[in-house]
Amino acid sequence: MQNADAQTSTMNDARPTKITFQYGDDDEAIEETATGSSNLDEDSSMCEPADDDKTSADYYFDSYSHFGLTHVIIQEMLKDVVRTKTYQNVIYRNTFLFKDKIVLDVGAGTGILSLFCAKAGAKHVYAVECSQMAVMAKEIVEANGYSNVITVLKGKIEEIDLPVPQVDIIISEWMGYFLLYENMLNTVLYARDKWLVNNGIVLPDNASLYLTAIEDAEYKEDKIECKKQSIMEPLVDTVDQNQIVTNCQLLKTMDISKMTSGDASFTAPFKLVAERDDYIHALVAYFDVSFTVCHKLTGFSTGPRSRSTHWKQTVLYLEEVLTICEGESISGSMTVAQNKKNPRDVDITLKYSLNGQRCVISRTQHYKMR
Ligand SMILES: C[S@@+](CC[C@H](N)C(=O)[O-])C[C@H]1O[C@@H](n2cnc3c(N)ncnc32)[C@H](O)[C@@H]1O
Repeated sequence: MQNADAQTSTMNDARPTKITFQYGDDDEAIEETATGSSNLDEDSSMCEPADDDKTSADYYFDSYSHFGLTHVIIQEMLKDVVRTKTYQNVIYRNTFLFKDKIVLDVGAGTGILSLFCAKAGAKHVYAVECSQMAVMAKEIVEANGYSNVITVLKGKIEEIDLPVPQVDIIISEWMGYFLLYENMLNTVLYARDKWLVNNGIVLPDNASLYLTAIEDAEYKEDKIECKKQSIMEPLVDTVDQNQIVTNCQLLKTMDISKMTSGDASFTAPFKLVAERDDYIHALVAYFDVSFTVCHKLTGFSTGPRSRSTHWKQTVLYLEEVLTICEGESISGSMTVAQNKKNPRDVDITLKYSLNGQRCVISRTQHYKMR
């Protein structure tokens, strides 16, 4: 595992509140989990219907179950220092939240968050994992001597019987690309409504989506024109902060402790003001999450000005290049909705117009994340 050096960085200036990132020196549990291993090819029936009956939602669960892919995905997630260290810091530096509490880890994966919670003094942790990774989680929990505190339950949150009627804390790392792709948020909301005690806490409890505009001549040509990537498919990629031409605009904030699943579908207006004369090839979306119940507000951003994460950014290429002058603005709205056929996919509609000195344009573009 890569070691997280002690360092502090701040989120970009588009945030409504300033959050301090903390990367501490508590690597112990990450190392333990990362070195755990299991033969995942045994009993691979969970969450896996016959091939013919599979929907893309099933492939989502499968992707976490297949041995090779599991290895790759676990590596990617655990090596994401920003992601894993933030959760670890939230738990280890706020043990007052966890002491003697019953915790539900929604989508536990290898059980890393459950282990953190157990080490922070939780009375009991229910680690629910749908995929074959549950087998690995159980082994890791045993190897770490926490079998009496952590119960790994293999199954979908929506289908399992939890041995307790209520939990004090729900923790989950549910965020997908563009925050909402793969729509695990609904699973967290389902668990919250079913099991969370009154005044219980959800971690993280806040997620926000942002939009900005970039110059991307080289890549647009390479990816869209040469490689024939469909312009309708948002591209998950790393954007260099020097490409940013406009301000970054907050599109939507979600309070995970209160929102309904319908709140994840929305239309949000935006106004992006150019900070220099340049060309605009794409709009770029990214998100941040925060844990507002911590002693010190903690969270991370997946924005281009922050330390990179495996979520990168989501690039929405425009059909035509916009020529924009400093001070001019692109105004419009973004509509985000679950795909009706496959709720794990996201439909995005972008309406935008620029009424500038050198470019007058008004467009509607539809994108599909799948
Ligand atoms: C992004 S991973 C996070 C894993 C782990 N919590 C971590 O932080 O490393 C999300 C996990 O949630 C599981 N998952 C997704 N939907 C689920 C559901 N409805 N019920 C149970 N587990 C689910 C996936 O199989 C996957 O292992």
